[in-house]
Amino acid sequence: MDMILEPARRMTREDLMYLLNLKDREEIQRLFDRAYQVKVEYVGNKVYFRGLIEFSNICRKDCFYCGIRKSNRNVVRYQINEDEILESARFAYENHYGSIVLQSGERDDAQFIGFVEKIVRAVKELSSNSLGITLSLGEQREETYRRWFLAGAHRYLLRIETSNERLYGRLHPEDHSYRKRIECLKMLYEIGYQVGTGVMIGLPGQTIEDLAEDILFFKKMDIAMVGMGPYLVHKDTPLSSKISDFEVIKERQLELALKMIAVTRIYLRDVNIASTTALQALDPTGREMGLKAGANIIMPNITGTEYRSSYQLYDNKPCLDENASLCRTCLGQRIESVGETIGFDEWGDSPHFRK
Ligand code: 5AD
Ligand code: FES
Repeated sequence: MDMILEPARRMTREDLMYLLNLKDREEIQRLFDRAYQVKVEYVGNKVYFRGLIEFSNICRKDCFYCGIRKSNRNVVRYQINEDEILESARFAYENHYGSIVLQSGERDDAQFIGFVEKIVRAVKELSSNSLGITLSLGEQREETYRRWFLAGAHRYLLRIETSNERLYGRLHPEDHSYRKRIECLKMLYEIGYQVGTGVMIGLPGQTIEDLAEDILFFKKMDIAMVGMGPYLVHKDTPLSSKISDFEVIKERQLELALKMIAVTRIYLRDVNIASTTALQALDPTGREMGLKAGANIIMPNITGTEYRSSYQLYDNKPCLDENASLCRTCLGQRIESVGETIGFDEWGDSPHFRK
């Protein structure tokens, strides 16, 4: 039996593990080709842009892997003001990006909640309601999620980071709760958001079985969008001191992340899958490789360049000095170079969500 061609509905956890474990170069290439074929069949060969605005690196949390965790004193903290955020949003609108993503460190104070609500309304207004808005602002109360939804946000990204509760526990301080995160994902779903989640790939202590479970988790939660990428070391974090170089060999991290994208595409078929910046950090063409392995979403960074160096979740983040226009030109060429087209002026909802 050829597992790479096996229909998804018949695949078991062991089958997913078998695919994630492929070692032979030719077999891996066949896996990517199959995933690409499934993508073209279910979501087409159009790539959708989400202009990413990282509007603040102030965070109340302390995840052991993340460069902007609150205990990292080596970061200059910033908060971009309303005018500048709207300027970036206008750039996205004028350049026909169908939607934007507002991301920041996690905060849950009243001032922050009100600020986000105001921005969401203003973005809707400046684009005559046409720009789609995704929020990526962490764990919040139900009432907050509702307020932002009513203001006009329609998608929310909240990565589970790993679906293995024990591993989650080792990557976070004690007061960060896996259960709470699951509750948040459920609330978002109930409210009516298109919900995205994802994991980090190649975390210290993570097994292939964990990754297969992650894919089953996406399915169980009826997720519409998946955003995941390789775990990358940030030197000013507790996790960096705990791992050996052996665990984070670049090539291996890249290959594993691409296999994870491919198997997720084959298994879930009609969802949106992002080709993340973290892939590009491992190889300059990492995001194009992601598109060839089944991803269909790219999130060009449109944050003002003066803030980029302060939003480093991991070391060696790419594109720190390319402004949004340069980024657009460079991306357009890269995407066309792999034979894909760009879905300008479209929200690009996944067929899965539309169902
Ligand atoms: N390596 C890779 N991804 C990271 N993230 C945070 N820190 C790192 C890191 N060191 C990811 C998390 C988070 C997203 C915004 O960035 O998955 O959800
Ligand atoms: Fe900010 Fe994890 S460190 S949410």
